[in-house]
Amino acid sequence: MEPMKRAREALRAVKAGEGIVTVLTGAGISAESGVPTFRGAGGLWREHRAQDLATPEAFAKDPQLVWDFYEMRRELVQPLEPNPGHRALAALEQQLGDRMRIFTQNIDGLHQAAGSQHVEELHGSLWRLRGMDSGRVFDDRTIPLPRSGDPLVPRCQESGEMLRPHVVWFGEPLDSELLHRAQLWTEGCEVFLIVGTSSNVYPAAGLAPLAANAGATVIEVNPDPAASGVTFTLAGPSGELLPKLCE
Ligand code: OAD
Repeated sequence: MEPMKRAREALRAVKAGEGIVTVLTGAGISAESGVPTFRGAGGLWREHRAQDLATPEAFAKDPQLVWDFYEMRRELVQPLEPNPGHRALAALEQQLGDRMRIFTQNIDGLHQAAGSQHVEELHGSLWRLRGMDSGRVFDDRTIPLPRSGDPLVPRCQESGEMLRPHVVWFGEPLDSELLHRAQLWTEGCEVFLIVGTSSNVYPAAGLAPLAANAGATVIEVNPDPAASGVTFTLAGPSGELLPKLCE
């Protein structure tokens, strides 16, 4: 039987039962919305040096340069819409409720824009900022932040502290509680769905093998499959394949 049919059957079995679906997404799921990936053709890390723009050292050296990079990405993503892949996952969640959770490496907010309620952002968000001293997190969509000093380096209006993007940079650990939740959901799921990631960056890249070892059916959706421990590979764009898989 073809992998799509068998993968659909595995999902259907979860819908009919009481099992859990855990989803890990990466840049590829947003590619069809127009968000550039990192490592493929036209990828961000092909055109920019990650160590100059996405590390704590880069921010300490030149916060303006780093903020310029994130402002560029915010402007790029702001007008973009979720695609049928994001929407298929939101529709699946409608059926499974809190038996499904998405762990995303993306910081673009497109899963939430598609209507997904249970989304955990492993690498932070383009739409939040964090105080350098206090660690306080600000929601950029609801609290318009005045920018003082350098035009593109925002500061907290109350404390004056410098704000940084609330994202995970290279060399920084993931939030430990969030990672622990991701591991629990991965070990406890019946189906683990991995979509649009090159499986290069740990610890996220370790989740599919963890799911496989724990006995889950692992389904990968990617035109250039890369994960290990996969049961069914659906090789193609997620905007086309996820609606077929999840419907
Ligand atoms: P990558 O750019 O490394 O990989 C994107 C993946 O998406 C590749 O495997 C592509 O084959 C796949 N892809 C491309 N188009 C697709 C489509 N239409 N449908 C499905 N898949 C498609 O991005 P990530 O794996 O997400 O971290 O990168 C992981 C992390 O590395 C990012 O979160 C970021 C980056 O450095 C940080 O910035 C901390």
